[in-house]
Amino acid sequence: MIVHQLNKTNSILNKFIAEIRDEIIQKDSMRFRRNIERMGEILAYELSKELSYKQKVVTTPLGKKSVPLINEKIVLCSILRAGLPLHQGILNYFDKAENAYISAYRHHPNNDSEFEIVVEYFASPSLEDKTLILIDPMLATGNSLVAVNDALKKHGTPKEIHIVCVIGATEGIEFIKNRFPKNTHLWIAAIDDTLNDKGYIIPGLGDAGDLAFGKKL
Ligand code: URA
Repeated sequence: MIVHQLNKTNSILNKFIAEIRDEIIQKDSMRFRRNIERMGEILAYELSKELSYKQKVVTTPLGKKSVPLINEKIVLCSILRAGLPLHQGILNYFDKAENAYISAYRHHPNNDSEFEIVVEYFASPSLEDKTLILIDPMLATGNSLVAVNDALKKHGTPKEIHIVCVIGATEGIEFIKNRFPKNTHLWIAAIDDTLNDKGYIIPGLGDAGDLAFGKKL
């Protein structure tokens, strides 16, 4: 897996990372969603540098110009519900991409800290020979990404997979590394060192789904 950690380079992205982590600014859920969406746009732009391009001729009112344009069939796949604002940001740039949605949630069978990932709703086009962009804002244990990727396999084998995340934990990144093809790229804004016993990233930002859309029962 090729890991691209974007906050290693100083950029405006750092302001958005700071704001989504900040417990005061987080109270404005519209700003939280919009910041994640803006991060999706930046991550999409960086990712676009790794795609394949083909020259195409564009006709202007005054002549013709050959320009390199993306030559890949892109499918964006988000894990509901927290992935939606990040998905929108990426879709703002890859506006002709196809879209897949999948629900994966943590089920605690014994009401303790142990959980399994349950995949339920799943709507996806064929992935055969396409570029799959797998979107999950918080890469914590990595279990949901692996479960989702397993569920997606029945829809075909993508040419290449790009995983896009906002914040990840070192442990989760290590967990997924050998469970995806070697040529998979991980695009991530920031990496934290720790997970707590509930599988939350520390310091992370809290629960991304609740912050974007409100607490659930
Ligand atoms: N999901 C979240 O929303 N936050 C975490 O820290 C981990 C998983």
